[in-house]
Amino acid sequence: MIRHWLNILRQQASHLQSALMHLKIRLKYPHVQVGKNVRFYGPIELNIHKTATVRIGDNCTFRSATKHNFVGINRPVSLYAGAGATLLIGTDYGLSGTAIVATEEVIIEPYVLLGGNTSVWDTDFHPLDYQQRRVTIAGTKTAPILIKSDAFIGANALIMKGVTIGERTIVGAGAVVTRSLPADEIWGGNPARLIRSAAILQTHLQFAHTVARQGR
Ligand SMILES: CC(C)(COP(=O)(O)OP(=O)(O)OC[C@H]1O[C@@H](n2cnc3c(N)ncnc32)[C@H](O)[C@@H]1OP(=O)(O)O)[C@@H](O)C(=O)NCCC(=O)NCCS
Repeated sequence: MIRHWLNILRQQASHLQSALMHLKIRLKYPHVQVGKNVRFYGPIELNIHKTATVRIGDNCTFRSATKHNFVGINRPVSLYAGAGATLLIGTDYGLSGTAIVATEEVIIEPYVLLGGNTSVWDTDFHPLDYQQRRVTIAGTKTAPILIKSDAFIGANALIMKGVTIGERTIVGAGAVVTRSLPADEIWGGNPARLIRSAAILQTHLQFAHTVARQGR
Protein backbone atom coordinates (compact mmCIF):
# COMPACT_ATOMS: atom_id res chain seq x y z
CA MET A 1 0.00 0.00 0.00
CA ILE A 2 2.75 2.44 1.00
CA ARG A 3 4.66 1.48 -2.12
CA HIS A 4 1.55 2.23 -4.22
CA TRP A 5 1.24 5.74 -2.78
CA LEU A 6 4.98 6.33 -3.11
CA ASN A 7 4.75 5.44 -6.80
CA ILE A 8 1.87 7.85 -7.27
CA LEU A 9 3.84 10.57 -5.47
CA ARG A 10 6.89 9.90 -7.65
CA GLN A 11 4.73 10.15 -10.79
CA GLN A 12 3.23 13.43 -9.63
CA ALA A 13 6.70 14.81 -8.83
CA SER A 14 7.85 13.82 -12.31
CA HIS A 15 4.80 15.54 -13.94
CA LEU A 16 5.49 18.65 -11.85
CA GLN A 17 9.17 18.69 -12.83
CA SER A 18 8.22 18.42 -16.51
CA ALA A 19 5.65 21.22 -16.16
CA LEU A 20 8.27 23.45 -14.48
CA MET A 21 10.68 22.83 -17.35
CA HIS A 22 7.96 23.86 -19.84
CA LEU A 23 7.34 27.01 -17.81
CA LYS A 24 11.05 27.82 -17.66
CA ILE A 25 11.38 27.51 -21.45
CA ARG A 26 8.29 29.64 -22.03
CA LEU A 27 9.56 32.39 -19.72
CA LYS A 28 13.24 32.38 -20.65
CA TYR A 29 13.00 31.45 -24.33
CA PRO A 30 9.56 32.55 -25.58
CA HIS A 31 10.72 32.16 -29.21
CA VAL A 32 11.34 28.42 -28.74
CA GLN A 33 8.40 26.36 -29.99
CA VAL A 34 7.63 23.26 -27.95
CA GLY A 35 5.06 20.78 -29.29
CA LYS A 36 2.34 18.83 -27.52
CA ASN A 37 3.03 15.98 -25.14
CA VAL A 38 6.71 16.81 -24.71
CA ARG A 39 8.01 15.23 -21.48
CA PHE A 40 11.11 16.27 -19.54
CA TYR A 41 12.40 13.63 -17.14
CA GLY A 42 14.73 15.86 -15.15
CA PRO A 43 15.76 19.42 -16.04
CA ILE A 44 17.62 20.02 -19.30
CA GLU A 45 20.32 22.65 -19.96
CA LEU A 46 19.47 25.27 -22.57
CA ASN A 47 21.47 28.04 -24.20
CA ILE A 48 19.43 29.50 -27.04
CA HIS A 49 20.31 32.77 -28.75
CA LYS A 50 17.40 35.14 -29.27
CA THR A 51 17.94 35.07 -33.05
CA ALA A 52 18.03 31.24 -33.22
CA THR A 53 15.11 29.24 -34.61
CA VAL A 54 14.34 26.31 -32.33
CA ARG A 55 11.40 23.92 -32.63
CA ILE A 56 10.73 20.77 -30.62
CA GLY A 57 8.03 18.55 -32.16
CA ASP A 58 5.14 16.71 -30.49
CA ASN A 59 5.63 13.59 -28.36
CA CYS A 60 9.33 14.10 -27.63
CA THR A 61 10.92 12.67 -24.48
CA PHE A 62 14.01 14.12 -22.80
CA ARG A 63 15.69 11.95 -20.15
CA SER A 64 18.37 13.63 -18.06
CA ALA A 65 19.32 11.14 -15.35
CA THR A 66 20.03 7.44 -14.97
CA LYS A 67 16.92 6.93 -12.87
CA HIS A 68 14.96 7.83 -16.02
CA ASN A 69 16.95 5.51 -18.30
CA PHE A 70 19.07 2.72 -16.90
CA VAL A 71 21.41 2.80 -19.87
CA GLY A 72 23.46 5.07 -17.55
CA ILE A 73 23.17 8.77 -18.25
CA ASN A 74 26.22 10.88 -17.37
CA ARG A 75 24.69 14.31 -17.87
CA PRO A 76 21.45 16.18 -18.49
CA VAL A 77 20.21 16.73 -22.04
CA SER A 78 21.67 20.02 -23.32
CA LEU A 79 20.60 22.08 -26.32
CA TYR A 80 22.68 24.96 -27.67
CA ALA A 81 21.59 27.14 -30.59
CA GLY A 82 23.83 30.09 -31.48
CA ALA A 83 23.08 33.39 -33.20
CA GLY A 84 21.02 32.79 -36.35
CA ALA A 85 21.25 29.00 -35.93
CA THR A 86 18.46 26.54 -36.65
CA LEU A 87 17.68 23.60 -34.40
CA LEU A 88 14.65 21.57 -35.44
CA ILE A 89 13.71 18.47 -33.51
CA GLY A 90 11.03 16.37 -35.19
CA THR A 91 8.08 14.66 -33.57
CA ASP A 92 8.11 11.36 -31.69
CA TYR A 93 11.72 11.64 -30.73
CA GLY A 94 13.64 10.37 -27.72
CA LEU A 95 16.96 11.47 -26.26
CA SER A 96 18.86 10.63 -23.10
CA GLY A 97 21.72 12.77 -21.84
CA THR A 98 22.22 14.02 -25.41
CA ALA A 99 24.20 17.19 -26.16
CA ILE A 100 23.14 19.03 -29.32
CA VAL A 101 25.16 22.02 -30.47
CA ALA A 102 23.77 24.00 -33.41
CA THR A 103 25.91 26.96 -34.41
CA GLU A 104 24.57 26.74 -37.95
CA GLU A 105 21.92 24.03 -38.42
CA VAL A 106 20.89 20.74 -36.84
CA ILE A 107 17.72 19.06 -38.11
CA ILE A 108 16.39 15.86 -36.60
CA GLU A 109 13.44 14.27 -38.36
CA PRO A 110 10.60 12.31 -36.68
CA TYR A 111 10.99 8.94 -34.93
CA VAL A 112 14.71 9.31 -34.29
CA LEU A 113 16.27 7.69 -31.20
CA LEU A 114 19.40 9.25 -29.75
CA GLY A 115 20.90 6.86 -27.18
CA GLY A 116 22.47 7.65 -23.83
CA ASN A 117 25.12 10.40 -23.79
CA THR A 118 25.15 10.92 -27.56
CA SER A 119 26.55 14.17 -28.97
CA VAL A 120 25.55 16.03 -32.13
CA TRP A 121 27.91 18.91 -32.94
CA ASP A 122 27.74 20.95 -36.13
CA THR A 123 31.03 22.69 -35.23
CA ASP A 124 34.64 21.96 -34.31
CA PHE A 125 34.32 24.62 -31.55
CA HIS A 126 37.87 25.93 -32.29
CA PRO A 127 39.80 26.77 -35.48
CA LEU A 128 42.27 24.18 -36.74
CA ASP A 129 45.08 26.72 -37.14
CA TYR A 130 46.89 26.94 -33.78
CA GLN A 131 47.81 30.63 -34.08
CA GLN A 132 44.21 31.53 -34.80
CA ARG A 133 43.10 29.17 -32.01
CA ARG A 134 45.19 31.09 -29.44
CA VAL A 135 43.25 34.29 -29.99
CA THR A 136 39.82 33.56 -31.39
CA ILE A 137 37.17 31.05 -32.27
CA ALA A 138 36.55 32.90 -35.55
CA GLY A 139 37.27 30.68 -38.53
CA THR A 140 36.00 27.54 -36.78
CA LYS A 141 34.69 24.99 -39.28
CA THR A 142 30.93 24.38 -39.09
CA ALA A 143 28.52 22.46 -41.33
CA PRO A 144 24.84 21.48 -41.00
CA ILE A 145 23.71 18.10 -39.65
CA LEU A 146 20.61 16.21 -40.79
CA ILE A 147 19.42 13.04 -39.05
CA LYS A 148 16.65 11.49 -41.10
CA SER A 149 13.54 9.75 -39.81
CA ASP A 150 13.73 6.50 -37.85
CA ALA A 151 17.52 6.63 -37.48
CA PHE A 152 18.78 4.99 -34.28
CA ILE A 153 21.97 6.40 -32.79
CA GLY A 154 23.64 4.12 -30.20
CA ALA A 155 24.84 5.24 -26.79
CA ASN A 156 27.92 7.52 -26.58
CA ALA A 157 28.02 8.03 -30.36
CA LEU A 158 29.35 11.32 -31.68
CA ILE A 159 27.82 12.84 -34.83
CA MET A 160 30.23 15.37 -36.32
CA LYS A 161 29.70 18.47 -38.46
CA GLY A 162 28.35 18.12 -41.99
CA VAL A 163 26.93 14.62 -41.50
CA THR A 164 23.61 13.41 -42.90
CA ILE A 165 22.31 10.12 -41.54
CA GLY A 166 19.91 8.31 -43.85
CA GLU A 167 16.43 7.06 -42.98
CA ARG A 168 16.33 4.06 -40.63
CA THR A 169 20.11 3.83 -40.47
CA ILE A 170 21.61 2.51 -37.22
CA VAL A 171 24.79 3.91 -35.67
CA GLY A 172 26.50 1.56 -33.21
CA ALA A 173 27.29 2.42 -29.62
CA GLY A 174 30.45 4.52 -29.28
CA ALA A 175 30.72 5.39 -32.98
CA VAL A 176 32.28 8.59 -34.25
CA VAL A 177 30.45 9.53 -37.45
CA THR A 178 32.48 11.85 -39.68
CA ARG A 179 30.90 11.13 -43.08
CA SER A 180 27.29 11.02 -44.30
CA LEU A 181 25.59 7.62 -44.11
CA PRO A 182 23.00 6.28 -46.57
CA ALA A 183 19.60 4.89 -45.56
CA ASP A 184 19.05 1.39 -44.14
CA GLU A 185 22.57 0.54 -43.07
CA ILE A 186 24.36 -0.26 -39.80
CA TRP A 187 27.59 1.64 -39.10
CA GLY A 188 29.94 1.51 -36.14
CA GLY A 189 33.44 2.26 -34.85
CA ASN A 190 35.79 5.23 -34.91
CA PRO A 191 35.68 6.54 -37.56
CA ALA A 192 32.36 4.82 -38.34
CA ARG A 193 32.54 2.10 -40.99
CA LEU A 194 29.82 0.03 -42.62
CA ILE A 195 28.93 -3.06 -40.55
CA ARG A 196 26.15 -4.29 -42.81
CA SER A 197 22.93 -3.36 -44.56
CA ALA A 198 19.91 -3.03 -42.32
CA ALA A 199 17.50 -3.34 -45.27
CA ILE A 200 16.83 -6.98 -44.42
CA LEU A 201 15.47 -5.85 -41.04
CA GLN A 202 13.05 -3.54 -42.84
CA THR A 203 11.83 -6.41 -45.00
CA HIS A 204 11.06 -8.44 -41.88
CA LEU A 205 9.35 -5.45 -40.27
CA GLN A 206 7.21 -4.77 -43.34
CA PHE A 207 6.24 -8.43 -43.31
CA ALA A 208 5.33 -8.25 -39.61
CA HIS A 209 3.24 -5.12 -40.21
CA THR A 210 1.42 -6.74 -43.12
CA VAL A 211 0.65 -9.80 -41.01
CA ALA A 212 -0.53 -7.59 -38.12
CA ARG A 213 -2.76 -5.58 -40.49
CA GLN A 214 -4.30 -8.76 -41.84
CA GLY A 215 -5.02 -9.76 -38.24
CA ARG A 216 -3.21 -13.09 -38.49
C1 LIG B 1 25.78 -1.77 -34.03
C2 LIG B 1 24.80 -2.79 -33.48
C3 LIG B 1 23.36 -2.34 -33.81
C4 LIG B 1 25.12 -4.09 -34.22
O1 LIG B 1 24.29 -5.11 -33.74
P1 LIG B 1 24.21 -6.53 -34.54
O2 LIG B 1 23.62 -6.30 -35.87
O3 LIG B 1 23.51 -7.49 -33.64
O4 LIG B 1 25.72 -6.86 -34.80
P2 LIG B 1 26.66 -8.02 -34.21
O5 LIG B 1 26.71 -7.96 -32.72
O6 LIG B 1 26.24 -9.29 -34.87
O7 LIG B 1 28.09 -7.55 -34.76
C5 LIG B 1 28.35 -7.47 -36.15
C6 LIG B 1 29.75 -6.90 -36.33
O8 LIG B 1 29.71 -5.53 -35.96
C7 LIG B 1 30.67 -5.26 -34.92
N1 LIG B 1 30.02 -4.29 -34.00
C8 LIG B 1 28.93 -4.48 -33.25
N2 LIG B 1 28.63 -3.38 -32.55
C9 LIG B 1 29.58 -2.48 -32.86
C10 LIG B 1 29.81 -1.16 -32.44
N3 LIG B 1 29.01 -0.53 -31.57
N4 LIG B 1 30.88 -0.51 -32.96
C11 LIG B 1 31.70 -1.12 -33.83
N5 LIG B 1 31.52 -2.39 -34.28
C12 LIG B 1 30.48 -3.06 -33.79
C13 LIG B 1 30.90 -6.61 -34.26
O9 LIG B 1 32.16 -6.65 -33.64
C14 LIG B 1 30.82 -7.53 -35.44
O10 LIG B 1 32.02 -7.46 -36.17
P3 LIG B 1 32.64 -8.77 -36.91
O11 LIG B 1 31.59 -9.17 -37.93
O12 LIG B 1 33.89 -8.25 -37.52
O13 LIG B 1 32.81 -9.78 -35.84
C15 LIG B 1 24.90 -2.97 -31.94
O14 LIG B 1 26.09 -3.67 -31.58
C16 LIG B 1 24.88 -1.64 -31.20
O15 LIG B 1 25.89 -0.94 -31.03
N6 LIG B 1 23.65 -1.26 -30.77
C17 LIG B 1 23.38 0.00 -30.12
C18 LIG B 1 22.94 -0.22 -28.67
C19 LIG B 1 22.68 1.10 -28.00
O16 LIG B 1 23.57 1.92 -27.86
N7 LIG B 1 21.41 1.33 -27.61
C20 LIG B 1 20.97 2.63 -27.09
C21 LIG B 1 20.96 2.66 -25.62
S1 LIG B 1 20.32 4.19 -25.05
